[in-house]
Amino acid sequence: MKKIEHTWAIVTGASSGIGECICHELAKKKVNIILCGRDEETIHEIQENLETTYNIKTDFFVGDLVEKGEPERLAKTMGGRYHVQFLFNNAGAGNYGPFLDYSLKEHMDIIDLNIKALTKLTYLFIGHMQAHGKESYISNISSVAAYLTVPFFGLYTGTKKYVKDLTDTLRYEFKNSNISFTTIYPGPTETKFFHHANQKVNSLGKHFMSSPEKVARLGVKATLQKKKACLIGITSKLGAAYSFLPNSVLIPAAHAVMQAGSSYDDRNKTLESKNDDQLFDNDEGGHLQ
Ligand SMILES: NC(=O)c1ccc[n+]([C@@H]2O[C@H](COP(=O)([O-])OP(=O)(O)OC[C@H]3O[C@@H](n4cnc5c(N)ncnc54)[C@H](OP(=O)(O)O)[C@@H]3O)[C@@H](O)[C@H]2O)c1
Repeated sequence: MKKIEHTWAIVTGASSGIGECICHELAKKKVNIILCGRDEETIHEIQENLETTYNIKTDFFVGDLVEKGEPERLAKTMGGRYHVQFLFNNAGAGNYGPFLDYSLKEHMDIIDLNIKALTKLTYLFIGHMQAHGKESYISNISSVAAYLTVPFFGLYTGTKKYVKDLTDTLRYEFKNSNISFTTIYPGPTETKFFHHANQKVNSLGKHFMSSPEKVARLGVKATLQKKKACLIGITSKLGAAYSFLPNSVLIPAAHAVMQAGSSYDDRNKTLESKNDDQLFDNDEGGHLQ
């Protein structure tokens, strides 16, 4: 690891949880930070705190990474201003619960954020990092979910498996380059993630949670050490250890574990109202249901 003071890092999802804590970890090492998120007021508050506490420089990008062209706008704007040497693809979300309880758009938004935006930023910043040629780091935040196959959460766990595969293969592909790739696998972590995912965690589930500070500390450390993977918490380590089991065993086991530690926080939307906007005319003028 070379000197990293005064280098520039991009952190997506910097407005809360793990992303905000990654910013603090980097700032402690005097890395300048570009904070990304949708909530402008919160982003500015965190910026001010980082600048005054650690005496670093910051910049910000406010945008919804699900919206068309936003990841490209982020890369173009910040890649044009700085030699970015760290990219933490951290912004992510999930929809817990019965598949049809969510609209198709809600599901597609998860794919657009967890997969498409992460892929676009990875692609664009590899080009940027190759062009400036300085020692660089791309860390993608996956999840213990990458090692499990969780019913009522299958779309999310699928996106996190994708993050694992993409990052692992890029690490191999670019092993002789100036860019190092790390995948971070947090287990359950005490953030707003569960609230956004409509998942209520009970006291047993909370018992197994890590703090976002710990996830960020270990994730940044592994990134700087150019580690391939960073498994955080007992559930991540157990998940990885048992991932060789077939889905016929893993799926019911994962379901039982999820039910023991949490419940679906029903949003009181009727299936009819949720799916109304998705009915569309078929050739006969009827509805596809
Ligand atoms: N918490 C856990 O148990 C856990 C476990 C394993 C992995 N993870 C992963 O860790 C990462 C961080 O999650 P967290 O736990 O810190 O959750 P969080 O507190 O809900 O933070 C999510 C961050 O993503 C940003 N974000 C959400 N949708 C966005 C969008 N459409 N465009 C741009 N930014 C968006 C949010 O910012 P704004 O709302 O300001 O846009 C927020 O800063 C995620 O990738 C998650 O999958 C979490």
